[in-house]
Amino acid sequence: MESFSATTKRSAEVAAAVAEHPERYRVLTGERPTGPLHLGHYFGTIRERVRLQQAGVETFVVLADYQVITDRESMANVRENVYSAVLDYLAAGIDPQSTTIFTHSAVPALNQLMLPFLSLVTEAELHRNPTVKAELAASGRALSGLLLTYPVHQAADILFCKGNLVPVGKDNLPHVEMTRVIARRFSERYGDVFPVPDALITATPEVPGLDGRKMSKSYGNAIALSMTPDETVAVIRGTRTDQERRIGFDPEHRPGVSALLSTAALCLGVDPAELADEIGDAGSSALKAVTATAVNDFLAPLRARRQAFAADGDVVRTVLRRGNEIANAVAEGTLAQVREAMGTSY
Ligand code: TRP
Repeated sequence: MESFSATTKRSAEVAAAVAEHPERYRVLTGERPTGPLHLGHYFGTIRERVRLQQAGVETFVVLADYQVITDRESMANVRENVYSAVLDYLAAGIDPQSTTIFTHSAVPALNQLMLPFLSLVTEAELHRNPTVKAELAASGRALSGLLLTYPVHQAADILFCKGNLVPVGKDNLPHVEMTRVIARRFSERYGDVFPVPDALITATPEVPGLDGRKMSKSYGNAIALSMTPDETVAVIRGTRTDQERRIGFDPEHRPGVSALLSTAALCLGVDPAELADEIGDAGSSALKAVTATAVNDFLAPLRARRQAFAADGDVVRTVLRRGNEIANAVAEGTLAQVREAMGTSY
């Protein structure tokens, strides 16, 4: 496996190549619809997707509904989460005319790719995946077959549309690496059908949650894009900081204070240490007020657009229906090539 620094370096080279030749790239990326999208998603990947779309790169976004049941039993709220994510995308500037938004469960030919792909990896390789190990530990449950094999499913997400560029946070890098292995092995065994995709590591790969840990729905430390300004103020007020009057940026020793500084600084486009100096001796309540205002001001236009889209009852369903139609046509085309390559077209 490539080292992280080699991947980072490669990612920077790829970013330069994309800027020069956007037409050579097709992006596939996506989310698990396990809860509302939050600022971590926005700064981690959504903003980058909008940038790539505006640069003229064709983009596919999967709402990975089958990935919801990798480490939990219930599909409760999945449909609601999918609809809410589509609203967030539209509000953030993703244009459904040029970006295909689709769901796993609506695209059978994509899912069928999982079978030949599974034959190309060993059980030992699956067990070695650090992200799967971490997710297994966090779930506190027995390892499901789907959790063990979901990186292969993710390879199917990427390769069904011949995606060659995958913007991800670093927690998803092992999956892109596995996709590269699968694409190479498929070519060796059956011939050239799939590209070997590159990861594009986003500039802000990890946004801290309000407690300094990774921002995550499951930690309850996230600011959802869909929150009202009052809800935003309330979650920020409720965070744990410390008693020191002097505000300072020190993620290791002052995680709560530093997480608020990082969040505000991202929204204001300034440096967190400089922002700390500006707040100076005003203490935690001033820091919280600054952060809440920064977040609410930053999200105000997005939230206004979100409301306008939400008011039109059909928008989300139309976007998904169209996206799923396109994804099905693309997946069937790829599966036909796979059958041809494998000698199974009858
Ligand atoms: N696993 C990703 C996440 O944790 C979501 C995802 C599913 C994805 N399929 C993908 C990301 C393909 C990039 C490419 O959010």
